[in-house]
Amino acid sequence: MQQINSFEAYIKAYQDSVENPEQFWSAVANNFHWTKPWETSLEWNFTEPNIKWFAGGETNLSYNCLDRHLATKANHTAIIFEPNNPDEKVRKLTYQELYIEVCKFANVLQSLGVKKGDRVCIYMPMVPEGAIAMLACARIGAIHSVVFAGFSATSLADRINDSACKILITADAVYRGDKLVALKNIADEALENCPSIEHCIIYNNRNETVNIVPNRDLWWHDQMNIISAENLSVPMDAEAPLFILYTSGSTGKPKGVLHTTGGYMIYVGYTFLNVFNYRDEEIFWCTADIGWVTGHSYLIYGPLLNGATTIMFEGVPNYPNAGRFWEMVDKHQVNIFYTAPTAIRALEACGTQWFEGKNLSSLRVLGSVGEPINEEAWQWYYNNVGHSNCPIVDTWWQTETGGILISPIAGVTPLKPAFATLPLPGVQPVLMDTEGNEIEGNDVEGNLCIKFPWPGMSRSLYGDHERFRQTYYNTYQNYYFTGDGARRDAEGYYRITGRVDDVINVSGHRIGTGEVEDAINGHASVVESAVVGYQHDIKGQGIFAFVIITQHEENLVQQIKDIVSKIIGPFARPEKIIIVPGLPKTRSGKIMRRILRKIAEGDVSNLGDTSTLLDPGVVEEIKRLAGL
Ligand code: WTA
Repeated sequence: MQQINSFEAYIKAYQDSVENPEQFWSAVANNFHWTKPWETSLEWNFTEPNIKWFAGGETNLSYNCLDRHLATKANHTAIIFEPNNPDEKVRKLTYQELYIEVCKFANVLQSLGVKKGDRVCIYMPMVPEGAIAMLACARIGAIHSVVFAGFSATSLADRINDSACKILITADAVYRGDKLVALKNIADEALENCPSIEHCIIYNNRNETVNIVPNRDLWWHDQMNIISAENLSVPMDAEAPLFILYTSGSTGKPKGVLHTTGGYMIYVGYTFLNVFNYRDEEIFWCTADIGWVTGHSYLIYGPLLNGATTIMFEGVPNYPNAGRFWEMVDKHQVNIFYTAPTAIRALEACGTQWFEGKNLSSLRVLGSVGEPINEEAWQWYYNNVGHSNCPIVDTWWQTETGGILISPIAGVTPLKPAFATLPLPGVQPVLMDTEGNEIEGNDVEGNLCIKFPWPGMSRSLYGDHERFRQTYYNTYQNYYFTGDGARRDAEGYYRITGRVDDVINVSGHRIGTGEVEDAINGHASVVESAVVGYQHDIKGQGIFAFVIITQHEENLVQQIKDIVSKIIGPFARPEKIIIVPGLPKTRSGKIMRRILRKIAEGDVSNLGDTSTLLDPGVVEEIKRLAGL
C-alpha cells in the first residue's frame, strides 16, 4: 500500500480523496484480498442514513490479517504478550502460530453451532486468546461484541442481552497489578440473566478455581485439544456486520455501535500504515484494552493487516512500579508507542527518576488518543519519552468512526502541541454554528461534523437504526455530528476541545452522565441525582454527583459510590458526591447542568442567567454545601 511520505504527498492525497473519493478508496481497497470484486464503491445518503462501501464485494478480515501474510511472514512475530507480572514469561506468537490458533478456535465456535451473523460476546483480559477469539469470529462471520473486562456483571448482562449473544468467552481470572479480578464469577452473575447464552468458554489464565455449569461451560483448552487446525475463512459481504462495540451517549442505555467488514478493514489498515508511518519489521505497542475501540482498530486489526508486531500488555502502568512502561519499551525495543493522555499525566506525576537505566532509543513515533492532550503533558511526553525527536501523533477519533479521522501523519505533518492538526485523506470535517450553518474560514470554533462518508464509519446501532439516525444525523441535516467541539486555528489546524453533549471522558473512558445517574438512582435512599464532569489533573475529567435523598444514613456517600461500581464498573465511580436539597431546574423540569458544571469546577463567578430557574434559591444552597 502506498505510504504518504511528504507533506506535498499528503496534500495531493487529500485533494484526490475529496475530488475522487470512490477512486481514491478503491485504490486503497485493491491492496487487500477480495474473493469477489465489488460492484459499486460507494452508495450513500446521510438522511436515512444509508452508507455502503464496496457493495457486492466479498472479503474476510481474518484472512487479510493472517493467511495473506503466511507466504512472506509466517515466522514473523505477530503478537508479543507481556504478562502483568514482569517475572512471568513473555509469550510470542508468530503469524503462523496465530493463524493456527485462530483456525482452531474458529472450528471450536463452528462446532458449537455458531454461524454467520451470530453474536459472540468476549469478556477477556488482555491475553492473546482475546485477540484469537476476535479473529476467529471474523473468520467465520460471527459478530463479536467485546465487553471491557472492567465492566460489572450488570453491564455485561445488559450488553449480552441487547444483542442476544449466543456464546460468552471469558477467563477464570486476571491480575491487574496486585489485584485479582475473578472474571468467571462476574460472568456467572451476569449469566443468571442472559437467556440467549448457550455456552460459556473459559480460558484458563490463572488456574483459579471456578464454578462450572454442566453443559453450558467449557474450557478453552479442552475444546482446542480436540479440534482440527484447518479452517477456510468464510467469504463475507463487504457490508456484513463485523462487530458491535457498546459505547456511552448522553442519554439512555449504551449504544451498540455497529461496524461492517470491508470499509472498516481498509480504513484501519490504511490509517495504521499512514498515521504511524509504520515501517516493516517495527514493534508497535498500543496500551489500550481490547475492550475499547482503540484496542480493536490499532492493537489488533490495524497492525495485523499490515503484518506488524503488536504488543499486548496484561497489566497496568504502575505495577510493580511507575517505570513499567519504560522498562517494557526497552525490553521489547518498541518503535511506536501509542497511549492515552491520562496515562502520560499519571506517569508524569511519578517523576522522571523512572526513566533511569531504561533505554528508550528504539522509539521513533509516539501517539496519543482518547481525550484532549493538554500542552504540558504533550511537552513532557515529547521531551522525556520521545527525547525531543519522536513526532507525537495526537489522533482524534471515536468508536463510531472506526479509525482515526484527524491526526498528524508521523514525520510528515508539522506538529503543534495539543492540536490533532489536519484531517486524514478522505475525511471532510466542518465546524457548525448554533443555527446549523457551516462556519467558514479559520480561527473559528464550533461543533465538529463530518460531511462526507469514509469507509470506516459506523453503519448503525445494533437493532436500532432509528436511534442511530437521531443520535448522529439529526442535529445537523446531512452531516455526521461527532458530539465534540473543536476550534480551527489560523493555519486550519484542528484542536478538539471536548464533548459538547452529556458525555464525560474519565481517563479516556466515555461515560454517559445519564448512565451514572440511573445507577445512583437505584439506591433506595436516593430520590434524584445529577451528574456532571469537572476538570481533573490526571483523569482529564472526574465525575461529580449532586444527589437528593430521602433520609440520611451512615456511609451514604460510600454506598452511592459502591452502587455505581456495582452497576457500571469501578472506573465510573463518582469522585465527588454532595447531598443537596434540590437541583437547579427550569420551569419545564430540565436540569441546568451548565450551573452544576460551574459549581463542580469550583468557579461560581459567573453562573450566567438563572432567571429561568424554578427556584433560584437552590443554587445558593448548593453553592454553600459545596463550600463555595
Ligand atoms: C475524545 C476513542 C481530543 C472525543 C478513540 C471523542 C479525543 C471521544 C481524542 C471518543 C483526541 C478521542 N483529542 N479528544 N486525540 N481522541 N477523543 O469512542 O471526545 O472511546 O468524541 O473513542 O474521545 O471516545 P471513544
